[in-house]
Amino acid sequence: MCGIIGIVGQVPVAPLLVDALKRLEYRGYDSAGIATIEGGELARRRAEGKLVNLEHRLDEEPLAGTIGIGHTRWATHGVPNETNAHPHFSNGVAIVHNGIIENFAELRQELVEDGYAFTSQTDTEVVAHLVSRELKRGARPVDAAHRALKRLEGAFALAIMFQGDDDLIIGARNGPPLAIGHGKGEMYLGSDAIALAPFTNSVTYLEDGDWAVVRRNHVEIFDMKGEPVERPRQQSVGSSFLVDKGNYHHFMEKEIHEQPEVISHTLAHYLDFTEGRARALDLPFDFAKLDRLAMSACGTAYLAGSIGKYWFERYARLPVDIDIASEFRYREMPLSGKSAALFISQSGETADTLASLRYCRDQNVPIGAVVNVRGSTIAREADVTFPILAGPEVGVASTKAFTCQLSALASLAVMAGVARGHIASEAESILIRQLAEAPRFANQVLRLSDQIEKVARELSRVRHVLYLGRDTSYPLAMEGALKLKEISYIHAEGYAAGELKHGPIALIDETMPVIVIAPHDRIFDKTMSNMQEVAARGGRIILITDEAGAARTSLTTMDTIVLPDVPEFIAPIVYALPIQLLAYFTAVAMGTDVDQPRNLAKSVTVE
Ligand code: AGP
Repeated sequence: MCGIIGIVGQVPVAPLLVDALKRLEYRGYDSAGIATIEGGELARRRAEGKLVNLEHRLDEEPLAGTIGIGHTRWATHGVPNETNAHPHFSNGVAIVHNGIIENFAELRQELVEDGYAFTSQTDTEVVAHLVSRELKRGARPVDAAHRALKRLEGAFALAIMFQGDDDLIIGARNGPPLAIGHGKGEMYLGSDAIALAPFTNSVTYLEDGDWAVVRRNHVEIFDMKGEPVERPRQQSVGSSFLVDKGNYHHFMEKEIHEQPEVISHTLAHYLDFTEGRARALDLPFDFAKLDRLAMSACGTAYLAGSIGKYWFERYARLPVDIDIASEFRYREMPLSGKSAALFISQSGETADTLASLRYCRDQNVPIGAVVNVRGSTIAREADVTFPILAGPEVGVASTKAFTCQLSALASLAVMAGVARGHIASEAESILIRQLAEAPRFANQVLRLSDQIEKVARELSRVRHVLYLGRDTSYPLAMEGALKLKEISYIHAEGYAAGELKHGPIALIDETMPVIVIAPHDRIFDKTMSNMQEVAARGGRIILITDEAGAARTSLTTMDTIVLPDVPEFIAPIVYALPIQLLAYFTAVAMGTDVDQPRNLAKSVTVE
């Protein structure tokens, strides 16, 4: 999951490339680099670590030139150091790459035998040498690039420049996204519309197998056979403002606090609060005729879908099969003519989720996608898009996208229940009224930040944490564990509370806090028994509940976080906030990089 940018411009491009890379840093931040052509000469600057290190490098040794390419990296092959940073060079060819060249080992062997010396451990360098070898064999730059591209297997988004030609960048896409931005006497290439937004909102998305000849005033797009293809130009929705933290310490903190607002935006997209009715949507399937809904996603999006499963089955009586996308895509789930598929993805670019979508498409199953980035690949390949209106989510740990995914899924479950005759008119307006209250309750929970911060300071001193929950609080327990481990690096596990006695109870002792998510609902007493099992073994409990739950809890907890009393239906949306805040404040206490945790990237566009 790297970010790439290319500009065939009119003004010095180095600062523009760096600005664009800032907008792409969410895709990876192990190292970064740019290359430009000035006076026909190729030159590059690269730096290990965050983009700011590249900026310092460029302050010391600026780069001139009105054409350039840039890259911010999430390492797949080769350690994240300057040598492996892109752009990679070979005899006058410069290249940046996002993806994985799956046949790079055999190509590398072939090139070594041809006398090419490799300076990096990356798969990308293979492409640079392939192109330069074709040049050496007499091919023109465009043909050299095309011949090299045809040798590649695997996933790639590429931008290639040639010494001596300051009016040519070759772009190519097979898997990871690549967009062309149309400017006035300038052209751009970028991993997504957000990177291109400061330059233009007129974009053309390349499709898999496309490659493009990009010049200042002209773009030609071809398929891998070399036949010209037409791709539509569209207005991107990428925001032109560079998302900033405002007066928050981190993007994650800001995005946690944006949730009351963006949850209400998302709900309003699907629900008519005045009428108490779900809005009518133009769908490629009829909820009333479905016998199954297949769902798939990764990470936090998968856990949102896991909560959605409870809602679709409980309120719409619609059976749901949900699986993590990296399993779904190889499981070959049998899908009938009465199935539909729903994919959930904040970025809309997650490789495993996209591959699962394509599996379902091959089965001729109607496909819906719950996405935050409207122009994304998953959005464009689905038959219907269910947008969440979370706005750009920059923090690598997903927060507002999660609660907006839940808001969209809850709305769709109500829609499905009405369509299938399981939610009568009165019940529909009650459920919608409950959803309408979610932003207000979320706002109330944010006022518990100080107490949660104190609890987090205790958490920051342990190495293992167990999260427990039942029913819709079970996926929430897993989400709480995911949040904690991905930003604080503390090992955490989410478990069904009822499963504790089937093994995990062996873990219980005073060194491992147990966080129990338990609104006072109809199964609260069952969870209470699990808490007693924990307490009886010296376990320390952090209970997240409501007034009634706190009142019924007879045992002494390490801490009890008391939330407002909320309807069962919307509890997962509201109870997401304390687990997000817990993870956030723990990470801050640990001093980790909250917005860009180690080894992670915001969008996983490789398998
Ligand atoms: C969430 O905190 C993680 N950063 C990660 O699990 C993420 O949810 C997952 O990679 C899916 O991303 P997507 O929603 O963009 O498809």
